[in-house]
Amino acid sequence: MESVQYIPIVDSEEKKIVSTKSSVAIIKFVIPLVAVTLIMIGSIFLIDHYSKVTQKGAPEDLTPFYIFFATLMALLAIIFVVNANLMKLVNIRTRELQAERDMLQRQNEEKTQLIGKSQTLERQLQKSLYDLKKAERSKDEFVAMITHELKAPLSPIKGYVDLLLSKNLGSLTDDQKHMIELIQSSSKSLIRLIQDLLDVQKTELGQLKLDKQKTYLSGIISSTVSKIQPDLEGKRISVKVILQNNPSCLCDEIRIDQVLTNLILNSMDFVPKENGEISITLISKNDMAEIIVKDNGTGIRNEDLEKLFVKFYQVDTSRTRERGGSGLGLSICKGIVENHGGKIWAESKGTGMGAEFHFTLPMLQSD
Ligand SMILES: Nc1ncnc2c1ncn2[C@@H]1O[C@H](COP(=O)(O)OP(=O)(O)OP(=O)(O)O)[C@@H](O)[C@H]1O
Ligand SMILES: [Mg+2]
Repeated sequence: MESVQYIPIVDSEEKKIVSTKSSVAIIKFVIPLVAVTLIMIGSIFLIDHYSKVTQKGAPEDLTPFYIFFATLMALLAIIFVVNANLMKLVNIRTRELQAERDMLQRQNEEKTQLIGKSQTLERQLQKSLYDLKKAERSKDEFVAMITHELKAPLSPIKGYVDLLLSKNLGSLTDDQKHMIELIQSSSKSLIRLIQDLLDVQKTELGQLKLDKQKTYLSGIISSTVSKIQPDLEGKRISVKVILQNNPSCLCDEIRIDQVLTNLILNSMDFVPKENGEISITLISKNDMAEIIVKDNGTGIRNEDLEKLFVKFYQVDTSRTRERGGSGLGLSICKGIVENHGGKIWAESKGTGMGAEFHFTLPMLQSD
């Protein structure tokens, strides 16, 4: 903790006052002393002179003595008048200097007080920041706990819905089937949303657990694409996989599949209804493997490219509104990729020009 900094009292002012006091001493004592000494020396000289004259029997002429005495008296009077005036001036100057010193001292105290106040404010600010971070962490922990608790009642809902649709409990009318299918799809969306929220919270709390194993990325790409293949075919979107090499990484296969799935599902929602094209490319550069998901969709404006990775951010377009989603997918992808020591980013030449999502993962040295 920094201590209050005291500004030193202005030394020069003190020095000025001390020198003025020395001048007073000179005027008060030294000048009269010199004058008295001169008178005494003069008197001794005169007395000596006249005693010699008297001894010789010469007639006594006192005029020079009177002139000398009168001169001395005039000199003394002048000295005392000048002395008094000088004293007055010196006193005035001393008072001025003392007033200046008092003012500087006051300014000094004010500055010290201001520094003290700013340090107190800084301490308060730091405390508020600390409290804010603590509150945010408590909020994150609370959300993580709540989302976890929300998952529990959803499991039986989903289970019973699946059971009803399996007709093991009897056949359903078309209306009943339709309504139960709606419940099924809503509960699936809800489970996914809760899972996404949990993932975001875990990433933010630094609690995302990864089960890292040596994995060949081409294997992950193939299995993810074949899982989504029926949907791709259903929407008549052509998909191309380009494997330039086959690097292996120390990674959590399920989480990397989650990243790739979100990128491909996003692309599927933004490619044109006819002639949609998606390509997945695997390359390696230096020590990093890189996966690129490219589409010929609506594209992304330059100013949105970085914001996409902020949680809940969605570009406000009719296409986005039509497809729904929560805007959590890419922030989870970022958390997963960064927890693997990689990077993720988006590229696009602009609206209508398609989009590319790149992510890197550190390669294993043996490759
Ligand atoms: N391939 C793409 N082309 C154009 N825009 C995209 C593309 N991928 C993502 N975006 C934009 O980025 C936004 C954020 O994507 P993200 O995956 O984080 O959320 P989401 O897909 O909207 O919802 P969620 O993935 O949580 O269900 C999307 O809403 C969309 O606006
Ligand atoms: Mg998404």
